[in-house]
Amino acid sequence: MKILGYGKSLPNKIVSNDDLSKLVETSDEWIIQRTGIRNRRISDVNTSVLASQAALEAINDAQIDKDDIDLIICATMTADNATPSVACLVQKELGLENATAFDINGACTGFIYALKVVEGLLKLNHKKALVIGSEVMSKVIDFTDRNTCILFGDGAGAIVVEKGEDAYFFTKSKGNFDVLYAEGTSLNTDLDVKEITGGFLYMDGREVFKFAIRAMEEAILKVLEEANLTIDDIDMIIPHQANQRIISNVAKRMKIDESKFFMNLEEYGNTSAASVAIALTEAKKQNVIKEKDKVILVGFGAGLTWGSTLIEI
Ligand code: UT7
Repeated sequence: MKILGYGKSLPNKIVSNDDLSKLVETSDEWIIQRTGIRNRRISDVNTSVLASQAALEAINDAQIDKDDIDLIICATMTADNATPSVACLVQKELGLENATAFDINGACTGFIYALKVVEGLLKLNHKKALVIGSEVMSKVIDFTDRNTCILFGDGAGAIVVEKGEDAYFFTKSKGNFDVLYAEGTSLNTDLDVKEITGGFLYMDGREVFKFAIRAMEEAILKVLEEANLTIDDIDMIIPHQANQRIISNVAKRMKIDESKFFMNLEEYGNTSAASVAIALTEAKKQNVIKEKDKVILVGFGAGLTWGSTLIEI
């Protein structure tokens, strides 16, 4: 696939570690030391609004006629509604009348899963696709739980792609309802008139930490193998922005210089499916990655899910 344009949208409201230490027993020092995160953004608009803003920026950056977009996929676990999808709401907002639109829920790996689906659909009959990662994680975060509320933030990233050089993929899932989950609405067998409510995100941080390191290492190695390349052929790795210590561990275990990993979690925290999309956009706009560079995008998340793609910019 070939990326034609990049976009992102981040809410204006910045919540610092000090702000969170007024809500839960924590400190700026603890959060920075254990995660590398200083700030995160909190949204006062829903997921589809951030998605539309990022998408519009990507379309303008691509300098294409919006009517040429025939596919919209949004990766998200915090959709505005059960239906219509965020992708359909973006389609309505931006008037993308010629597209097929749907969402993918792969949690924090969602953007990589979406790219894999897009790569396949471009080989069928689709020509230009809008691929978005958008989340308002603050909707599912319990701000009395210091284990999770310090980690997550809101935002969206988007790219426009068309058929190009082959992209390589490794993706995997392992069904698990123990270490990372957010419950949906409950059953209603008694046909009660009830208020529908969703569940907060629950996480066993230590277990997810261990899983993340193994998953990232496997995903990087497998995609290199798939492409028949070595790490020295790779210009930059853009990982899911969950925790600086996870990246440091992966870098150390794999003997990769940590500077090869593009990081921006200090300012945004973990934005789930948006994190790789935002980081990819920032890496391109800051000229950290350039045309023809070989880049690995790699992520892991609830599901459990994990995966990577190796693309040429
Ligand atoms: O997209 C995927 C999403 N999830 C992740 O990537 C999360 C992966 N896990 C992590 O990033 C880390 O496990 C955390 C940042 C969540 C926690 O860091 P940790 O170094 O694994 O800490 P811990 O859970 O082992 O806890 C160490 C201590 C505990 O106190 P005791 O039992 O040693 O007295 C915790 O109660 O730190 C305490 N603690 C905190 N202290 C201050 C836990 N959270 C906090 C906090 N502030 N926010």
